[in-house]
Amino acid sequence: MNQGIIKKYAKLLPVSAKTPIITLNEGNTPLIHAGYLSSLVGKNAEVYLKYEGLNPTGSFKDRGMTLAISKACEAKATAVMCASTGNTSASAAAYTARAGIKCVVLIPSGAIALGKLSQALIHGAKVLAIKGNFDEALDLVKEITAHYAITLVNSLNPYRIEGQKTASFEICDCFGDAPDFQIIPVGNAGNITAYWKGYKEYRALGLSTKLPVMLGFQAQGAAPIVKNKPVKNPHTIATAIRIGNPASWKTAVEARDESKGLIDLVSDQEILTAYKLLAQKEGVFAEPASAASIAGLLKLITGGYFKKINNTRKKYKIVCILTGHGLKDPERAIKCVKPPKIIKPDLKTILKEIGY
Ligand code: F0G
Repeated sequence: MNQGIIKKYAKLLPVSAKTPIITLNEGNTPLIHAGYLSSLVGKNAEVYLKYEGLNPTGSFKDRGMTLAISKACEAKATAVMCASTGNTSASAAAYTARAGIKCVVLIPSGAIALGKLSQALIHGAKVLAIKGNFDEALDLVKEITAHYAITLVNSLNPYRIEGQKTASFEICDCFGDAPDFQIIPVGNAGNITAYWKGYKEYRALGLSTKLPVMLGFQAQGAAPIVKNKPVKNPHTIATAIRIGNPASWKTAVEARDESKGLIDLVSDQEILTAYKLLAQKEGVFAEPASAASIAGLLKLITGGYFKKINNTRKKYKIVCILTGHGLKDPERAIKCVKPPKIIKPDLKTILKEIGY
């Protein structure tokens, strides 16, 4: 039975018998073979989707939050705080509800998806919407948590990264080794940092033999790492990654360079195309920020990035990380397809509509 990532990977996490385990049985998410996407890459590649949207609150944040909240409880904290584009706040709200401690979240007003807002509110967090963006919210949270007895649970909290690295353990456990390439959306850059740390630790322990090439993607209007300078007013329809000054910038660049990978950008249009393609060709519904992985894959294919592997005999594994569930942002889904046709409740009309 899956009892969550802390029990499963306790030996590789900073926990002891004294750590209270606050869990919602997160982790153990499926690694889904993507036949259509594989065929686009070519004969030598198999594409897999790590569907992190199937975590308890619908995003990868739960892996880091179970550990951050457990450690906060171990340290007898009574309150935690985070800035969020939505998913971190949803996860923090759920785990603190379970732990019985206070949760305060700062969100950019009007810029987080409805599903995420509903989660933070229903779990009883104190939700404050600032007239500003995520970067401003994070600066305020850093200042407040530095001066008051409130634990910061953004990914600057090292336990968040520690928990999130378990996703790479799961991928290696599933394949029996690390994949060849990993494609991942990049926002505040904690997740790419966490995956890379996980892969390196597994290899150092002899639990895998290689390291993947890390391929990160930012949204075009929020691509500070690609442009090598902070973006003052980031914008993208992928609100989860609407971030102009990532906290884990340096470690994301390290992951990119150590793995001989890249961090590139994809446009909102490319994200939306990938978002629909993923839903309609693979049957997987992920939120727009997650579709940045798929948009990145498509961009790499078009640019000939995978040509070199198609000239070899080996089979390559490419893992795309789908960080959050599509239901987080139902408004976006409805906006980018045709609305249902309203018809009379009549047999003949229906048969005509469906072509029978
Ligand atoms: N995908 C989703 C669905 C996210 O919610 C986030 C970040 C990312 C990708 C990027 O991950 O920040 O580790 O590079 N969401 C944060 C939040 C910022 O507040 O929920 P990252």
